[in-house]
Order: sequence, then structure tokens, then C-alpha cells
Amino acid sequence: MRINSVHARAISDTRGRETIETTLRAGELEATASIPSGKSTGSKEAKELRDEDGGVTTAIRNVTGEVANALGERDFSNIEELDSFLCELDGTQDKSRLGANAILSVSIAMARLFAQKENIPLWRFIANTAKTIPAAPRLFVNVMNGGAHANFRLPIQEQILVVGEETLKESVTIAHEAFTQLGDMLRTELPDLPIGDEGGYSPVFDTIERPFELLADIVSKWSNTSIAIDSAANELLDGNEYVLLKKRYTSDELLELYTHLIERFPFHAIEDPFAESDKESFTKITEKLGKKVIIIGDDLIVTNPKLIEDAATHKYINAALIKPNQIGTVSETIDAVHKTYEAGWRTVVSHRSGETYDTFIADLAYGIGAHGIKAGGLAQQQRLAKYERLRAIEREATELSM
Ligand code: PGA
Ligand code: ZN
Repeated sequence: MRINSVHARAISDTRGRETIETTLRAGELEATASIPSGKSTGSKEAKELRDEDGGVTTAIRNVTGEVANALGERDFSNIEELDSFLCELDGTQDKSRLGANAILSVSIAMARLFAQKENIPLWRFIANTAKTIPAAPRLFVNVMNGGAHANFRLPIQEQILVVGEETLKESVTIAHEAFTQLGDMLRTELPDLPIGDEGGYSPVFDTIERPFELLADIVSKWSNTSIAIDSAANELLDGNEYVLLKKRYTSDELLELYTHLIERFPFHAIEDPFAESDKESFTKITEKLGKKVIIIGDDLIVTNPKLIEDAATHKYINAALIKPNQIGTVSETIDAVHKTYEAGWRTVVSHRSGETYDTFIADLAYGIGAHGIKAGGLAQQQRLAKYERLRAIEREATELSM
């Protein structure tokens, strides 16, 4: 496929920060992609390019200038060719020259063009490329936001409702009902209930357990629902200890806290229980609790195939969070998925805390048959767009199989 024109512009993400949106044309075909942005990031993520004032003018210029010129009249027969070309053009390990945000916007738009050319849905294109079996993911709905996403009103960044019904239609319906019920419960104590960065409620409690008491109550109403958390523990670390609700915990004490929580409440998963530097504690928790709950790595592995291989060797975790913008191309994201499956682990595809209306992660999650998808709380349109896309995918899949 040859690209005839490349356009890029700045749009606003959910935090009102600028982010890049790119449109590619190839003959009659046209596709657009926009890129989200994280706040509680891992140190080894591919680098998003930001101007000094936080804008994305340079990233846009890189796409419409250097990348567009280099694409020229080149003919790409598949997405891997384009992605290798972009990585070589950038020439750095972490995509810091052109920007991972700039590169990924071109890569995702191109994946959409290939899907259009073959006249297949994007999730089908992803499954064909990755050689995976498409399937409906569980919804990991971040219903209560804390940590860096809500001024640490709750110490744990994400209190998640996991919904795994037979169909996405049912799962999305339950997510909506549960979210409304939880809102009603929280407002009885806190009429002015704020919303956090990821579109979930952002209450304040004086115990660690309180959010889970409320969630356990919600979860008891449906059979295929459970609780998960993302501690995003990089953000809780102070020296060698973790601070939650002003109390200091050593790594072993924090492990005790997690053990207590999963014994008391219906937990399904814990993400980033420790900081990325505290690797031994990952091995300990996976050994101790990994049969009862899945231990997901995010900042620890940053969707990086090499870091996932290393994590597999050391048995740090037993599931990987997959965020395309942590690595910067569609093909490398698929490589990360392969490494995760080779380790015998589960994948959970994820949005970022600063999101756009782009729904690529919905197609990715379905296409690779991910165990779950994190697309946020239901109080933001940009998160809802992903849930609606999942429902549309389910309809497309039914039509294709008829
Ligand atoms: P981020 O957080 O998008 O702010 O990095 C999401 C997460 O930690 O999973
Ligand atoms: Zn995380």
C-alpha cells in the first residue's frame, strides 16, 4: 500500500491536554488515529514527544514532515514492514527522536487502512496479523479512581469491577447498572462526588477496606463479577517503603495487606502491587497469591517484548497489561502479546488516563482474545466509546459468522 497524503493535528484528551491525531490517505481509503497519554508511567516506556509547553507541535511536524517525506512513494505490503521502517527512521531505542506518539499514530492509522483494503473489520485484521483467536474480553471497569488520577484521595489508583458475562452486550449492561448503583451508594455519604481522571468516582475513605466493602456489595448482585485493583505502586513508594493513608508499609507488610484483602473480598486481579524497582516482591506475591488472583504487570514491563521475556524468566507476574503507546507501534504491541502468551500468561489490554475517542484498544482486545480490557469508568464519553465499539465488534463478529 502506498500513502498519498499525511495530515496531523492537535486534539484535546480527557484532561484537556493536547495530543496528536493523524490521518492517512491511500487512494480512495482514509483512516485516522489519535493517541492517549499516561500520567502514572513506567520508567522504560517509549517516549511521547512533548514540546516544552506540553503541546505536540513537534510531534505533528515530525509526522507531516519527516515521516511523510520518507514514506514517499514506498509500497508497504504489511504492517510489520511499515513499523520496522518507522523504527529505523526514528533510530532510537525508545522512539524519543520522532516520538512514540507520532509513530504510533501513523502505525494505527495504517493498520486501519490495511483492514479497509482487505474489507475486514480491524479486530479481524489484528487477529490475522497476530495469528490469535478473537474472543470477548472481560471488562475491567475502573469504578473508583485514586492515586495520581485523583490527587490521592484514595491511595490505590484503581478499584476495578470485573465483569465477564457470556456476551459483551450483557457485560456492558451490567457495568452500567453497577456503576449507577455504586454512584447512588457513594452519594448518600458524599453528595458532591467528584470524578477522577479515568471516568470513575473519586470518593474519600478513612480505611483501605471501605471501597472493597462497597464493591463486594455490588458484586454480590451478579454471578460473573469480581474485584480487581491497580495499585500503581510506583506512585506509593517513598524511600524503601510504601505509603497508603499516611501509614508506611514495608514490601512484606504490603504483601500482608494484599493477602488480607483477597481473603476477605472476591478479588480477581492485582496490577502493579509493587514499584517497578521492587522486583523480588513481584516474584513473592506471584508465588504466594498467583493461584488465587492474577498478578498483572504494567509499569514493570511496559508492553516491551524484552521486559516481558525477562519477567517470565523471573516469574514476576502471571499476566501482562498491554498498552500500545508504551511501546509505540502496532507490530511491537503484537510481539508483546506473543511473548505474554508464550509465557503462558493472560493479557489485559488497556487505555491510558488521558484518553481520546479512538477505539483501537477495543479491536485489539477482541482480536487477540484478551483476558480483559481496561477502558475506564462510565462517566467520560471517551471511555464509553470503547465499550460501544466492543458491542459493535460483537455484532460484526456475529454477522461474519453467519
Ligand atoms: P496511566 O495509568 O495511563 O496514567 O499511566 C494507567 C495505569 O496505570 O494502568
Ligand atoms: Zn497500571
